Amino acid sequence: MAVDVEKILRPVDNDFPPFPPKYMTLSNGDDLVIRQIGREEVPDVLKYVEPLLHVERDFYDIVAARVYSELLAYYRYRIQDEYVLVAQVNGELVAVVNGRFVNKDVGMSLHTLGLRRGLRIGAHAFATKMEYHIDVCGQKEVLIVAESPIGFRRWMIEYKLEKRFEVPHELGGCPSWALTKDLFDRARGTLVIGRRPVPEKAMQKAMEAILPPTDPPRKPIHPMAAARALYDQTGTAVMAQGWALEGRK
Ligand SMILES: CC(C)(COP(=O)(O)OP(=O)(O)OC[C@H]1O[C@@H](n2cnc3c(N)ncnc32)[C@H](O)[C@@H]1OP(=O)(O)O)[C@@H](O)C(=O)NCCC(=O)NCCS
Repeated sequence: MAVDVEKILRPVDNDFPPFPPKYMTLSNGDDLVIRQIGREEVPDVLKYVEPLLHVERDFYDIVAARVYSELLAYYRYRIQDEYVLVAQVNGELVAVVNGRFVNKDVGMSLHTLGLRRGLRIGAHAFATKMEYHIDVCGQKEVLIVAESPIGFRRWMIEYKLEKRFEVPHELGGCPSWALTKDLFDRARGTLVIGRRPVPEKAMQKAMEAILPPTDPPRKPIHPMAAARALYDQTGTAVMAQGWALEGRK
């Protein structure tokens, strides 16, 4: 009986080509590998998404909560036609992107989550996900929304996305925007970079293990600390005053 119910609950994925791994050099000289993961690797990613549930800044909390749920749904077969790509530097997880195929022609961009800041890693991961929909799967357009002002700047403004406000997006029913093939063609060479094949050594390192992010976004250690707390002298000064008031050194 249980087995039969599971058969009904579990959606059957349609056939879409796998994502061919991609490679690029970041502005700091690090090599970034972006590759697709299967269900078996999802738990290795979830443990690094979970701490971000508590980071309000830049809307990491809501995005992390949704990514967690979407990845879990993929892992436990409760979502149809989803894919997950990870971006790694020497094995370290630096971004996660995911999406879904609505039908043969239309893609649904779900999320982009950067785990290392300041190098446009999130932007590169998003561009790669668009490349997957448009070039690899031959889709006509991808529906997109932004949950944060940074996301709005990166997707709606940088790609000059078209409004599809009559179409509710799967993320909360918000009005959709669309990246068409034409818009994507215009972004080639500027926003979309990278090459294939991934050098063997870099690919091996990426496949070996998904290593923890070394400098992930964190909640400020003191509520009064300035937003970029850890490295920010203003934040440290505020905390030092607090400690002095508490009689701590
Ligand atoms: C949106 C996102 C994927 C973009 O990633 P990214 O392209 O790697 O960009 P970063 O987040 O590192 O940087 C964004 C801006 O903050 C600045 N920044 C740099 N270092 C930073 C740091 N340590 N902390 C905060 N901001 C930083 C960057 O210089 C950049 O400014 P710019 O737009 O003028 O270039 C990422 O910000 C993210 O995951 N945000 C939370 C989740 C989210 O909003 N996802 C998108 C949903 S629509």
